[in-house]
Amino acid sequence: MRTQVAIIGGGPSGLLLSQLLHRSGIDTVVLERKTRAHVLGRIRAGILEVGFVDLMQEAGVADRMMRECLVHQGVIIADGDETFNIDFQDLTGTSVVVYGQTELTRDLYDAREAMDGKIIFNAENVEIHGAESDAPYVTYRVDGAEQRLKCDYVAGCDGFHGVSRQTIPGDVRRDFERLYPFGWLGVLSDTPPVHDELIYSSSKRGFSLCSMRSKNRSRYYLQVPLSDRPEDWSDAAFWQELKRRIPGAVAETLITGPSIEKSIAPLRSFVSEPMRWGRLFLCGDAAHIVPPTGAKGLNTAASDIHYLFNALVQVFEERDSEGIDRYSERALARVWKAERFSWWLTNLLHRFPEQDGFDQRMQRAELAFLRENRHAQTVMAQNYVGLPY
Ligand code: APR
Ligand code: PHB
Repeated sequence: MRTQVAIIGGGPSGLLLSQLLHRSGIDTVVLERKTRAHVLGRIRAGILEVGFVDLMQEAGVADRMMRECLVHQGVIIADGDETFNIDFQDLTGTSVVVYGQTELTRDLYDAREAMDGKIIFNAENVEIHGAESDAPYVTYRVDGAEQRLKCDYVAGCDGFHGVSRQTIPGDVRRDFERLYPFGWLGVLSDTPPVHDELIYSSSKRGFSLCSMRSKNRSRYYLQVPLSDRPEDWSDAAFWQELKRRIPGAVAETLITGPSIEKSIAPLRSFVSEPMRWGRLFLCGDAAHIVPPTGAKGLNTAASDIHYLFNALVQVFEERDSEGIDRYSERALARVWKAERFSWWLTNLLHRFPEQDGFDQRMQRAELAFLRENRHAQTVMAQNYVGLPY
């Protein structure tokens, strides 16, 4: 089999790139290790920057999202019982869209199938060959039979645990990582959100986040030790602890209910450079991971896809390699700014085990300055709604 762009990974990055290229007349094949149902079973955040929304509209996949999404003008920051608002609309003239990543991925799958996009599920043992040559190809097994996919370019959209990044030789690649000494215990419940905007809370007991998927489905998080397991937390214990970490006035209005999903995710900052090796290009989680605090994971994958999509159109339509030659440099410039913002907000709002009194006073002083200073709020708002591509 042959295609112009072989895309490894059928998550948001791979699907969005495939849809955009297909609409520009460029042939792709997506190789996904799991089944569609497995991919859609993942619970992920859905805070979308305006750049992501624009890409989905460019891909012709934004109709349901625009009908069903929530538009948020800002977020609430809580420091103990005190709260203040970061008003995106006032400070930046824009807002963010709340639309679950599961629904967004479902829309992308539906759009790919409507266009007869080629997606191969249960693709095992995917290997990339000849990335440094002019004739790369990908081998994989499906239904026990070995297959070969010849292509012009390979997009590695296979996430943090994928094969693409590992294809780049260790002496070419340079990885940067920061592991955080805690995780996020997340609960999904079919209850109305406690507030119509997100509440990021810093309390003596640790960080918590009140978020949502819709007006009837809430998403809550608690910072927990890395040694905790979801089964250590009953629903009652979760709700009791959440009430102790959010402002009292908010806790009084919290509507609790049975958890329909409960999981713990570790927090990590990670970037792998370069994001290109020959005819292989890394996108999204395959190249970088952010702690979820700044809601930048999906949004940073989007800017990668924006740069790579336009670079591939440029090379196929104009035989001009400027875009692919500069892809890694352009993508990393924005990736590192998202990494910095996510790292900054994580350090600002979480309790670190080894923190001493000085550290805690630094946090409180920074929170006080953010509460009091419009310029500080503007900087946070500009990063949260999304820096320009
Ligand atoms: N072969 C084929 N497919 C693979 C392989 C492999 N060796 N390894 C992983 N995959 C698939 C996974 O099953 C997954 O569906 O690649 C896909 C990668 O998707 P994500 O991990 O979601 O990464 P990405 O598409 O870059 O999405 C970026 O979305 O996943 C969320 O919030 C998360 O920030 C992340 C954002
Ligand atoms: C979520 O709704 O899952 C969510 C929202 C904002 C974040 C992280 C997660 O920063």
